Amino acid sequence: MIDERDCVLHSWCVQDQWQAPMIVGGRGARFWAADGREWLDMSSLAECSHLGHQHPRVVEAIRSQAERLCFVTNAWGAQPRAELANLLLEVAGFEGGRVFFTLGGSDANEHAVKFARQAHGLPQGWVIARDRSYHGASYASMALSGDSRTAAQVDAQAFRVSHVAPPYAYRCPWHSPDPTTCGERAAAAVAERIDALGMHDVAAVLMEPNAGTNGIVAPDNYWPALRVATQERRVYLIADEVMSGFGRCGEWFAWQRHGQDGVPDLMTLAKGLTGAHLPLGAVVLNQTVAEHLRSKMLLTGLTYCGHPLSCAAGVAAIRSYQDEDLIARSRHLGQQMYAHLRAMQNRLSLIGDVRGGHGLFAVIELVTDPSTRVPLSAWPDMHPGLRRLLQRGFEAGVSFAARGNLLILAPPLVIEETALSDALGLLEKLLLELETELAEETHRSHAR
Ligand SMILES: Cc1ncc(COP(=O)(O)O)c(C=O)c1O
Repeated sequence: MIDERDCVLHSWCVQDQWQAPMIVGGRGARFWAADGREWLDMSSLAECSHLGHQHPRVVEAIRSQAERLCFVTNAWGAQPRAELANLLLEVAGFEGGRVFFTLGGSDANEHAVKFARQAHGLPQGWVIARDRSYHGASYASMALSGDSRTAAQVDAQAFRVSHVAPPYAYRCPWHSPDPTTCGERAAAAVAERIDALGMHDVAAVLMEPNAGTNGIVAPDNYWPALRVATQERRVYLIADEVMSGFGRCGEWFAWQRHGQDGVPDLMTLAKGLTGAHLPLGAVVLNQTVAEHLRSKMLLTGLTYCGHPLSCAAGVAAIRSYQDEDLIARSRHLGQQMYAHLRAMQNRLSLIGDVRGGHGLFAVIELVTDPSTRVPLSAWPDMHPGLRRLLQRGFEAGVSFAARGNLLILAPPLVIEETALSDALGLLEKLLLELETELAEETHRSHAR
C-alpha cells in the first residue's frame, strides 16, 4: 500500500507527526482498517458523520444519482438541488426563503456574510463575531473566527470583522459566577459593539448558537438575547449551524430550542447536511433577506456549488434523519450522556466542567484542580497526558477527540446505546488513570 506520509500534506497537524492507519470501511458508528483493527467513533470524525459511516440509504442515493446525472452547473436546474432546498426550508420553517449551496462550512459563512451585506446595501459592512469561535479556515472565514490558532494569519479588521468576548460561563469574561448573568453580559457586549461601530455600518452578527470547535456552549438566555439586540438594531443575525445542526444539539438546528425567540435571519450548514458522505454546505436565508436579493445580481459562486451528487446525498440524509427519528434520538441519548458525564465529574477531580447534552454533543473541560479551575493546559495547547489518553483510547478501539484541554464527545446519532455507555465507561477509566499519573508526577516533583 502507498504510504500517505510520502505524498500528502495533512490538515491541522505537524506534518512529520502525522501517523494514522489507512481506513478501508465503516458501518454505523464504527470504521476499520485493512489489518482488521476497528474503532468506535466517539466524535463522528470531525463532528460530521452524524448518520454513521456508509449509511446505506445515502450511499444508494449517490449511486443512483451518479447513474442518472453527475453534474450540471447552477446555470441549469437539477432535481436533487431543488428537492434539498425545499426540504431545508421546510425543516427550518423558513417559508418563502431561499437556499444557496456551497462546498462546505467555510464558504457557507463567507457567502452568508456576502448576502447579509448585499441585502443591507453595505458591501463592506461590519460583521461582529466572537472570540473562541470557529467559522472555517479560508481567509475570510479565518477573519470571522475568533481562533487563536489562526489569528496571526489574517487581519480581521481589514475584513471588517470585530470580535467580542464569548459567553463562556465557566470562565466568564465579566467574572460573573452565574451563567445567566454571564449570558446577559455577553449578549449586551454584542449590542454595545454594534452601537460603538454605529448600527448603520453593521451588516451582521455571526455566532455559533450552541456546539462549537472551541468548546463554548452558551448559557440558555444568550441566543434569544442576541436575537432581541440584533432585531432592535436592524442587524442580521447569522447562525453558524455547521457543527450544531442536524440533531447534534437535539433539534434540527440548535436555535430551534428557543422557538420563535431564536429564529435567525440566515443560517449556515455543512457537515451533517450529507452526514459527510459528500462535501456540501448551504446558506439558508429567510424570506425577508431573500426578498432583498430577489432583483439583485449575485456576483458570486463556485463551480461546484449545488453539485447534484452532493444534493442527492443531502436529500437522502434528511429523509434518514426523519424516517429513523434521529433528531429525537440524539436529544434522548444526549441527555443520558450528559447525566453520565456529570456523575463522572463527581468522581474525578480532573473534570472541571461538563457542557452541552442538549443532543449528542458534550464538552468536558479538564483542569488541574476543580476549585482553582486552572486548565490542564493553556488554550489551545494539549497536555501530553491528554495525548496519552487519546492513544490509549485508540489502542482500546475507541476514537475520542480533544482540543486543548477539552474532550469533545459527538458520536454519530445512530450509535448503539450499549456502545455509548461502554465508551463512557472506558473514558472514565482512562481519566482516572491520567488523574493518578498526574498526582504521582506532582508528588514526585514536590519530593525533589
Ligand atoms: C461551527 C463551524 N463553522 C464552520 C466550519 C468550517 O466548515 P468546513 O470545514 O466544512 O469548511 C466548522 C468546521 O469545523 C465549524 O465547526
